[in-house]
Amino acid sequence: MRAVDIIRRKRDGHELTAREIAFLIEGFVRGDIPDYQMSAFAMAVLFRGMTDAETAELTLAMARSGSQLDLSGIPGVKVDKHSTGGVGDKTTLVVASLAAAAGVPVAKMSGRGLGHTGGTIDKLESIPGFRTELKPEAFIRQVREIGLAVAGQSGDLAPADKKLYALRDVTATVESIPLIASSVMSKKIAAGADAIVLDVKTGGGAFMKTLEDAERLALAMVAIGRLVGRRTAAVISDMDQPLGRAIGNALEVREAIAALRGEGPEDLTRLCLALAAHMAVLGGRAASLDEALPLLERKLASGEALEKFRRLIAAQGGDPAVVDDPDRLPSAPRRIAVKAERAGCVRRIDAEKLGLAAMMLGAGRAVKDAPIDHSVGIVLGRKIGDRVEAGEALAELHAARGGEAEAEALRLAAEAFEIGDEPPAMRPLILSVVTEEGVRRMDSEER
Ligand code: URA
Repeated sequence: MRAVDIIRRKRDGHELTAREIAFLIEGFVRGDIPDYQMSAFAMAVLFRGMTDAETAELTLAMARSGSQLDLSGIPGVKVDKHSTGGVGDKTTLVVASLAAAAGVPVAKMSGRGLGHTGGTIDKLESIPGFRTELKPEAFIRQVREIGLAVAGQSGDLAPADKKLYALRDVTATVESIPLIASSVMSKKIAAGADAIVLDVKTGGGAFMKTLEDAERLALAMVAIGRLVGRRTAAVISDMDQPLGRAIGNALEVREAIAALRGEGPEDLTRLCLALAAHMAVLGGRAASLDEALPLLERKLASGEALEKFRRLIAAQGGDPAVVDDPDRLPSAPRRIAVKAERAGCVRRIDAEKLGLAAMMLGAGRAVKDAPIDHSVGIVLGRKIGDRVEAGEALAELHAARGGEAEAEALRLAAEAFEIGDEPPAMRPLILSVVTEEGVRRMDSEER
């Protein structure tokens, strides 16, 4: 078998066999297949696409390329949750606690933030003392003991994906649905999930700018799940504006705690309940979404979900008192108001610009492994549809470093708000749900 023949077959639109795909991925990870051939292959896939069967084989080959976590020692259906990334997306902190409170074992591997989107691991590390590096044995033991663990993704999980993603990033081949779908699912499968709930974001602040593209990606991932025996469901949610009001690590933990107390922003709470409901159904804790939702609402109202979060923090060395007293979280020394230049109604909020502004304040990284400041970020005073008078605050920057970067952050944050005379047409938060049964667009009542 030769790589060049496989690339040619894909270039000419043929369906590759499992053996051909395994040959490419294994050879690439060993270093026998050079970057230029893998780049050509990625470009051929970008133009020609892949069948569901090919995408599933690519996913499995990448999942097999490194260590795989065996969660079989944990009783029950282990359900993982993944977000395709957004601004102000602190759902994992809430959803994992909610699902665990409902009896779904949650063994969650998460990443760090890069660019304008944040990462769960950075958010958790803003809690004093919180450890995100857990050895597999400790990780599994903790899920057995308290039903929940959240750890940083180990470096050896799906190394083929890591290597291929680095190539895609510099060869204009990121935007291929089968390549994105296999990339996401390979990591979930290597992390040992029995079932997977996906939060696919769509809109200005997301990877998938249109609902149709988000649905195509969700369908590809659900199809992979079906073919490899891991039930998968996806919720397509709006990222035309940040989720909730807080952007930045400690600020987002504070908002997640508020949500777990039943005092969080409505959009964040609703999305978290919906995602946790899918987890409860896939995890066998509820027969249907209609049964799952009230169950989860009770877990929120009774404080059991908050209690799970407290136990998670304590188990991983953090200060559990932050749950009762969020002022123990790091806090930035200065507040700078982003003021409205005119009166009117907020018509658009560019989530990507706000994400970049938060990054300039020090909340995120422009390059991998750069240090971050957990205390800084942005709190929105207005969301889409809200009225504002001239001079009132649209948002507040929580700042620490001063200088050029801070001035740039203020400029970006001000630019992110578009104010008009008329209220905009409001878009629902949850746009569709994609399962093995197909795509279900939400009608206005369900919104
Ligand atoms: N996120 C991933 O993990 N992989 C991609 O290819 C794109 C987004």
